[in-house]
Amino acid sequence: MSKITVIGAGNVGATCANVLAYNEVADEVVMLDVKEGVSEGKAIDMMQTAQLLGFDTRITGCTNDYAATANSNVIIITSGIPRKPGMTREELIGTNAGIVKAVAENALKYSPDATLVVISNPMDTMTYLAYKTLGLPKNRIIGMGGALDSSRFKFYLSQALACNANEVEGIVIGGHGDTTMIPISRLATYKGIPVSRLLSADKIDKIVKDTMVGGATLTGLLGTSAWYAPGAAGALVAEAVLHDQKKLVPCSVALEGEYGETDICIGVPVILGKNGVEKIVDIELNDEEKALFAKSAASVRTTNAVLKEIKAL
Ligand code: 2OP
Repeated sequence: MSKITVIGAGNVGATCANVLAYNEVADEVVMLDVKEGVSEGKAIDMMQTAQLLGFDTRITGCTNDYAATANSNVIIITSGIPRKPGMTREELIGTNAGIVKAVAENALKYSPDATLVVISNPMDTMTYLAYKTLGLPKNRIIGMGGALDSSRFKFYLSQALACNANEVEGIVIGGHGDTTMIPISRLATYKGIPVSRLLSADKIDKIVKDTMVGGATLTGLLGTSAWYAPGAAGALVAEAVLHDQKKLVPCSVALEGEYGETDICIGVPVILGKNGVEKIVDIELNDEEKALFAKSAASVRTTNAVLKEIKAL
């Protein structure tokens, strides 16, 4: 029996649970929320789509009942507040650090062998907080930012190429922040053709910039942060782990010398399988990309330092 818990049944958590169920990633999906009735109601609503959509996954909801999440294979953390228009993800740290730490500790009491997928923002810093405080092996703590940012990168590339987004390859590494993410346009391809042969340098530059502020653009349109792609990105990471898919996905993981960094969680390409992060893939950055990565890491570290100031570490 496979089981995934999604903590936080807001827009992102509920979308994530819905994608997991629709794709029958696990036999059981449990949503947990602090707001009485919300996850229970959303679980019933989703279960009433089972016969319409034809899935067999059982979805349940609970209010703060961690016992109901026991023996989960994967725990996905979406709890905390989302950003409002004009806010950066980093500004959420004061509220979200305490919440993320508490919910992760509670959930792990009932599922000590679970792999943790972190979605809450600021995502790299919340992943780092989990890494520093929970005592889990580093391969079992995964921040999903790069999966989301890469999907946005591929979307913008496909728009410019007027092609099917599934036929585009592209990865985004670095921090999951408006100024810290690094879409690697040098390695982006359409059906194996480098996009630099198909699009002008100016167009590629615009795609990179649009990708970096992809979340902020949606926050401006929606009045709160996005949820469909963030939820689906969390589900993709959970599926790769639970089904031992050995997929290469850019994720925020603890580095110990890889990419020249230590004592940080930041986005790099990794292989995801039943052991969580099974390998960190070295894609050999050029000098410009290396400089961007170092700058991104320095910026993530500045946010991580706030954890000490607010005594979360
Ligand atoms: C985003 O980029 C919520 O951080 C998430 O939309």
